[in-house]
Amino acid sequence: MFRQGRDAQPDDEVTITAYRDGPFLVRGPVRVQDQDGNEIVLERKTVALCRCGKSRMRPLCDGTHKLIRFRAPSGLEAGRRAEDA
Ligand code: FES
Repeated sequence: MFRQGRDAQPDDEVTITAYRDGPFLVRGPVRVQDQDGNEIVLERKTVALCRCGKSRMRPLCDGTHKLIRFRAPSGLEAGRRAEDA
């Protein structure tokens, strides 16, 4: 079965989208838990995970990335090559 619309994907598939200057949006059937296995109850089907590190409700995004003008590309950064280390 597929969802309708622009973000159509199989119901059992998980997609993580890195948003430019923002969070990771996780779409699909996921369970978020802490390292002790305690479930973090989600109120929505789409989960926004903080990647700026400044959210007051980590690991979830609360929009603080906009206030601090967090910058990160949507795509893969070039990073450092092992031979540069
Ligand atoms: S990415 Fe949104 S608060 Fe950190």
